[in-house]
Amino acid sequence: MLTNADLEKMVETTDEWISERTGIKERRIADADTATSDLAAGAVARACRQAGIPAAELDAIIVATSTPDTVYPATACWVQARLGIAGNAAFDVSAGCSGFLFALELASNLVAAGTARRVAAVGAEVMSKVVNWDDRATCVLFGDGAGAAVCVEGDGRSGVLASTWGCDGSLAPLLYQPAGGTRLPTSLETLERRQHTVHMEGNKVFKHAVRAMSDSASRAMALAGVTMDDVRLLIPHQANTRIMDATRARLNVPTDKVFTVIQKYGNMSAATIPVALDEARDEERIRDGDIVVMTAFGTGFTWGASVIRW
Ligand code: ACO
Repeated sequence: MLTNADLEKMVETTDEWISERTGIKERRIADADTATSDLAAGAVARACRQAGIPAAELDAIIVATSTPDTVYPATACWVQARLGIAGNAAFDVSAGCSGFLFALELASNLVAAGTARRVAAVGAEVMSKVVNWDDRATCVLFGDGAGAAVCVEGDGRSGVLASTWGCDGSLAPLLYQPAGGTRLPTSLETLERRQHTVHMEGNKVFKHAVRAMSDSASRAMALAGVTMDDVRLLIPHQANTRIMDATRARLNVPTDKVFTVIQKYGNMSAATIPVALDEARDEERIRDGDIVVMTAFGTGFTWGASVIRW
């Protein structure tokens, strides 16, 4: 665990600044030997246990991540190997912090189409290995983690009711990792310039995030034919308490309907929503039949929202 007090010793910052600007108090940091697939495999195993399904019976594993183990193959392939279940499909989705909702939408539709019977959607990140630990404007924001959900054939009483998603690629340079791909391959120069780390214009991200997350949630609810009165819980992507609060205010949702875990984990990108979903279920903030709205925004820029019945 890395607390704000620990960060005070690493960069010029204070617990007060981080708490007030972001709501984050602490975050989990993976150790040197742990990669994204290690966290993802643990999350898939846990989700399968809770669903009462052996991992070997998954028809597909979809991992949403921006911090893959390797450029190729996909992190989902490493996850499958770690679970020891060779054979069925495994692939990644790259949609930044919106990634889990994109993966969930794919998983749900694969099952609805009859292409697959059981699909795991995973959000997993080791952000700590792509953060510039000398840049106080970004290093205080992120944490590592993973969460997963399993979509199965069912009786239609629970599942994804409606989703919406989108992207504006023209805004990509506002939040990206410049080097390490084919645009700017790794070289001594890119390493010296720290171009393999998160580059972000925080203020601009903030404004777009609030609008996109609230608009997506409204559209998804309209598609699902529900209003906020029907909704038990709103789980926004956990980037920053102020983003979540502004989104909540635009949607006119009371604070007690918003579930947050950011104070404990920071921004885990694609992992924040499935981790929050799991904790909400553990704390019995969600029960069978409840309607939950999840909404996200991330690099790309991408955005999306899903309305589910638990
Ligand atoms: N400690 C102390 N001071 C800091 C720190 C820090 N860790 N970081 C920046 N500052 C300083 C800046 O240097 C600046 O100082 P100056 O006024 O002397 O120039 C001052 O604080 C204000 O900086 P801003 O960037 O304007 O602060 P802002 O209120 O915008 O908060 C933040 C910054 C928290 C990054 C905010 O813009 C934000 O949350 N944006 C959203 C970005 C985000 O969460 N991205 C995550 C990935 S995308 C996603 O998940 C949606």
